[in-house]
Amino acid sequence: MKICIVMGARKKGNTAQVVSCFTEALQERADVSFDYLYPADARPEHCVGCHNCIFTGEQHCPHHDTFRPMLQRLHEADAVILASPGYMFSVTGIMKTFLDHMAYLCHRPEFFGKKALVLSSCTRWQQKSVLTPMTTWAAGAGFTLAGKFFVEMPPLPLKEKELERTRRKIRKEAARFAAELQKPGKLKPVFADLMIFNAFRAFSRFAPGILKADYAYFQSLHAYDRNTRWYRPVKVSRIKSRLAGYLTGRIMKSLKKMVDPVKLQEPGVSPVNSLTDRS
Ligand SMILES: Cc1cc2nc3c(=O)[nH]c(=O)nc-3n(C[C@H](O)[C@H](O)[C@H](O)COP(=O)(O)O)c2cc1C
Repeated sequence: MKICIVMGARKKGNTAQVVSCFTEALQERADVSFDYLYPADARPEHCVGCHNCIFTGEQHCPHHDTFRPMLQRLHEADAVILASPGYMFSVTGIMKTFLDHMAYLCHRPEFFGKKALVLSSCTRWQQKSVLTPMTTWAAGAGFTLAGKFFVEMPPLPLKEKELERTRRKIRKEAARFAAELQKPGKLKPVFADLMIFNAFRAFSRFAPGILKADYAYFQSLHAYDRNTRWYRPVKVSRIKSRLAGYLTGRIMKSLKKMVDPVKLQEPGVSPVNSLTDRS
């Protein structure tokens, strides 16, 4: 089993140490090989916010040539690990750049049936804000979240007792992930997944001329058919699906109050609203 490790960290820092300890322990428990993906090696540009990836397709991103090979490596892997230290109560800039360029996958998920694990070396105060961008992306892109953890790694020399405690925690997480990898990749959408499906389907039906790529994606899944409840034909609770549909209706109602229906139909409408030009 091949695991792609997206390293949003420097090559010889605390996070790299956590990843080494984790992969060593994982290899003792499962037949796995690793593909280390350092987005920094490709010297990527930051996302420029053009929305091309979301509106017309990722192939129209001005940085597509840089990110296409990374996407390919994610597809070639059986599972993915995202690793980032906590910098300023968030992921590192390079991990954020990676996630921004892959954000369209939350509109058009592609990784169903694959598992993901998210880890960080950060202080306890940062854990939520560091792990959330990575877990949100992984779940949104279709991965099954099979683990998330942080280890406290302040940039100070730790006592051996503390290091041993940290190693034990990492090995425990590796054992848990190894067990998760053995399980069949059965898709069981939770309520949040149903909400995401319903919301993006409704947005694309509301603005098909803008969300062109999303519209084509949902059409290809026959998702506008009344009976389609999720991206994949799996068992979905009718009650939960109805509730997600109802809440999406509420979201759409407030969105429709905000959006100009005439401008929405104009060709080449811009995602930028002018607050200063009244002409
Ligand atoms: C630029 C930068 C910002 C950081 N911001 C915080 C922070 O906001 N809060 C905190 O507790 N630690 C912060 N840290 C400490 C790191 O989270 C911690 O040392 C981590 O283990 C570093 O991992 P690395 O060696 O893989 O880069 C910061 C470190 C750096 C370099």
